[in-house]
Amino acid sequence: MNFDLIVKTATLADGRIADIGIKGDKIAAIEPKIEAEAGRVIDATGNLVSAPFVDPHFHMDATLSYGIPRINASGTLLEGIALWGELKPLLTHEAVKQRALAYCDWAVSMGLLAIRTHVDTCDDRLLAVEALLEVKKEVAPYIDLQLVAFPQDGLYRAPNARENTIRALDLGADIVGGIPHFERTMEDGRRSLTELCEIAAKRGLMVDIHCDETDDPLSRHIEQLAYETQRLGLQGRVAGSHLTSMHSMDNYYVSKLIPLIAEAQVSAIPNPLINIMLQGRHDSYPKRRGMTRVPEMLKAGIRVGWGQDCVLDPWYSLGTADMLDVAFMGLHVAQMSSPADMARCFDMVTNVNAAIMGLDHLGMEVGKTASMVMLDAGNPIEAIRLRAERLCVIAKGKVVAERPKRDTALNIAGRPSSINRRHRA
Ligand code: FE2
Repeated sequence: MNFDLIVKTATLADGRIADIGIKGDKIAAIEPKIEAEAGRVIDATGNLVSAPFVDPHFHMDATLSYGIPRINASGTLLEGIALWGELKPLLTHEAVKQRALAYCDWAVSMGLLAIRTHVDTCDDRLLAVEALLEVKKEVAPYIDLQLVAFPQDGLYRAPNARENTIRALDLGADIVGGIPHFERTMEDGRRSLTELCEIAAKRGLMVDIHCDETDDPLSRHIEQLAYETQRLGLQGRVAGSHLTSMHSMDNYYVSKLIPLIAEAQVSAIPNPLINIMLQGRHDSYPKRRGMTRVPEMLKAGIRVGWGQDCVLDPWYSLGTADMLDVAFMGLHVAQMSSPADMARCFDMVTNVNAAIMGLDHLGMEVGKTASMVMLDAGNPIEAIRLRAERLCVIAKGKVVAERPKRDTALNIAGRPSSINRRHRA
């Protein structure tokens, strides 16, 4: 068999060394040695080649807007939402689109080839929805982009949000979003979940809720989300994003709650960079970490991914589209320090996130889409430790980003050193 592309001597995430043969946009062979002609051969000797990075929680309508019209002085979620409210009237279709496309370039350079973005549906113009639908089409050759219709200011709290969210779904948004803890009352939050899940069930869509993103231990909307998932037969199609209140909940209540989430097959998407930055802002000391109970949920068999949430926007002043930053922070905050847990964090930002998004076509298996990333690291743990360089990114069978390996030796205190710039072992 001839191939369009062969990646030679790749180290796979499970430690196997193999050649990867690509034909068209599919992985056609993964074998210890492929002896065949190919349009191009890439030498991956000593380098990890993995499934691409996937981000299941992002806000592409707000990204790269840091400082417009001002920065978030308190650093809280609520000031971030208020600041986004100041920015919204200033948005133009073209500006949203240009920032989103610039971010997609960053994403590709980092091997991030699938993104689920929430898009605010509270602006009557729905210009961000329309702009991101265009972006989705333009980047489709290399990024799988999913749009969540997200009533940022509350389905019932913001005027027209309910109607606009339905309009966004009619326009082509893929997923139903919500924010129950930001509605006026707990009861409105509960009702919003019932209605949003019913909309999703009727339309055959997935659900992804900003759920209990608060330090308030009595914010228990996740319980209702699990209930509605069961009631409407949405198992496996619903995600609870953030779930930060679980950090502060009573342990006895959590011992009942976690099995309910597992039973409903609701996925969890903590966003460690943002959770550690925004939560606990009302605490003195000791100060809560504010990230949800990741190891406990994993132990219960709940599917847990890591999301990025924000890059340079009203909520977060840093970020580089690097899911290894996300895994690095998640690993620390969740204290997932064993070798198995660290490797699992890498799996979470690749395969698990893809599963949460329902992207069955991704993965390092024959017959799957030929999307992958070659890293300047020998294994997943080293990739996280180094936030390793992305040496080559292949999307749907085509090389879309490449950079030379930087192995420049250093002079240390006047003597040549064998260590390279990134301290690769
Ligand atoms: Fe978010």
